[in-house]
Amino acid sequence: MKNVVITGSSNGFGYLSAQLFADNAYKVYATMRNPEGSNSEKKQELEKYSSNIKVVNMDVAEDESVKVAMNSIIKEAGTIDVLINNAGIMHMGIAEAFSIEQANQLMNVNYYGIIRTTQAVLPIMRKEGKGLIINTTSAYGRVFAPFAATYGASKAAVEAYTQSLKYELATTGVETILVEPGPFATNLAGSFSPEARTEIVGEYSELQAIFGGMMEEVATLLQSEGFPQPNLVAEAYLKLAEMPQGSRPTRTTVGLPLGADKVNELTQPIQDGSLQAYKMDYLLETKIK
Ligand SMILES: NC(=O)c1ccc[n+]([C@@H]2O[C@H](COP(=O)([O-])OP(=O)(O)OC[C@H]3O[C@@H](n4cnc5c(N)ncnc54)[C@H](OP(=O)(O)O)[C@@H]3O)[C@@H](O)[C@H]2O)c1
Repeated sequence: MKNVVITGSSNGFGYLSAQLFADNAYKVYATMRNPEGSNSEKKQELEKYSSNIKVVNMDVAEDESVKVAMNSIIKEAGTIDVLINNAGIMHMGIAEAFSIEQANQLMNVNYYGIIRTTQAVLPIMRKEGKGLIINTTSAYGRVFAPFAATYGASKAAVEAYTQSLKYELATTGVETILVEPGPFATNLAGSFSPEARTEIVGEYSELQAIFGGMMEEVATLLQSEGFPQPNLVAEAYLKLAEMPQGSRPTRTTVGLPLGADKVNELTQPIQDGSLQAYKMDYLLETKIK
């Protein structure tokens, strides 16, 4: 039985993925923060859903929490076949009005969180000569929107980190790839916090109205008939996990791509071609061990 570690399993894509992977005979380590507190209901639901699911306490924003959680999973499972870095938060609003503290909080979860979990699993994956790390970014990590400046920056940081890491891991047999969802109706809006620099917001009355208009458009779009549903992201994670090692695309868009698919199509050959300058083309293919 293969095992998978999913971060941010209490809601949205992570919750649905825990169920889908369990249905497909994976042992699922569904990690979440506060499983004995604010997320206790989600823990109970998931563990009741399938005996293949074990909920593990992990806050990706905390060094110690990630260390303790990953050590306990590795001790129990022996190895980790797939890590899905899915946990994330979003702030939306006027870029200038977010404080450095708010930017730090966002980067800490969305970017440093991925570094923490990745560093925790790589030693065992490298030793085994196999393993898959899926990092969740966003269409807004490839094309950038107004009112999502720090969010886009955090996702672009993960794009850069994952691409570099993919090349570096090529000779180890470990693969790391990206999933870039478009907009989906999950609980992500629940993580929004308003701009802390309220005095700056006050100076942007015209822009505030534009932001309000954008939020209305997004809400209408998400509720429109036939709009892509969050289960598509869980299905994309599973499809990628099931593909043979070394055959997976570096980037997969899901849902409304907002042009990210076109950016990928145009830039991936340029990106990979850049290795030629230093004769490193052999890092383009993951070595199967
Ligand atoms: N929905 C979209 O439109 C969309 C589009 C593109 C990309 N994404 C990305 O997809 C991923 C999943 O988001 P979602 O849409 O499924 O949103 P969601 O329903 O809000 O789920 C996000 C999950 O991340 C968890 N989380 C937040 N901070 C955490 C922390 N410090 N440690 C551990 N877990 C933490 C949340 O846990 P709590 O319940 O404890 O808060 C929640 O389970 C995120 O990375 C998001 O940026 C979403």
